[in-house]
Amino acid sequence: MTAAVREDLDLAPALVRASGEQFARAAADLLERVIAGKPDAVLGVATGDTPVPVYAELARRRTLGLRTDLLTLVALDEYVGLDPADARSYQHYVREEIAAPLGIPFGNVHVPSGLSETAGDDYERLILSLGGVDLQVVGIGRNGHIGFNEPGAEVTSRTRRVELAESTRRANAGFFGGDPEAVPTHAVTQGIATILSAREIVLLARGAGKAEAVAAAVHGEISSAVPASFLRRHAQVTAVIDDDAGGMLA
Ligand code: F6R
Repeated sequence: MTAAVREDLDLAPALVRASGEQFARAAADLLERVIAGKPDAVLGVATGDTPVPVYAELARRRTLGLRTDLLTLVALDEYVGLDPADARSYQHYVREEIAAPLGIPFGNVHVPSGLSETAGDDYERLILSLGGVDLQVVGIGRNGHIGFNEPGAEVTSRTRRVELAESTRRANAGFFGGDPEAVPTHAVTQGIATILSAREIVLLARGAGKAEAVAAAVHGEISSAVPASFLRRHAQVTAVIDDDAGGMLA
């Protein structure tokens, strides 16, 4: 079953420092440990730039014999209003960047609907029906978001429709022809409580642009102002951080 959020916990995440080519290998090692022990694991997957080399490294390991085709993938989020077939949708990303290279049938790929009014509740039910997430990969926004839980998100939040911060739309403009205005204004995201109900979590951060958010998440107050700080309420979190993203850590 899924783990309950412990309000009294403030646990330092295990830190793995790895830069350059080592970053993807260190993160893939963590994923491989879970996958090798449970080939039909439910893997929660972040999209965005950071994990791309990690998924590529897993695909490389598949060619060396790692069984990945029995996995089920559960995405963190989706833009509201994008058709799943849209090349900018996270449905498309998860299929093309993760599922296809890992040999996972698309029937075992789950992404919240960006078109349905009931997407949040439907997704919560889906995750429960899968028996919960074994390992959740999360990235971190420059503003400390995880999933699309922007500053202000509650620790009790579940999958729901949210408004994206302006800074998030600017950060993701690269996927929309460089135009922040073209980035959807809303998304459906797993909530903080949803993310924390995964049995294990791996946080990935690369680049100097993440240094402040990483330091606030790891050493700052646990609060809605930095949603990633809520990861310290979970007992099984490992953060894989490169030198630049870890540049402001004590
Ligand atoms: C993506 C997601 C976001 C990203 C974060 C970092 O599914 O939920 O929280 O992980 O915005 O994005 P990148 O890796 O592009 O810097």
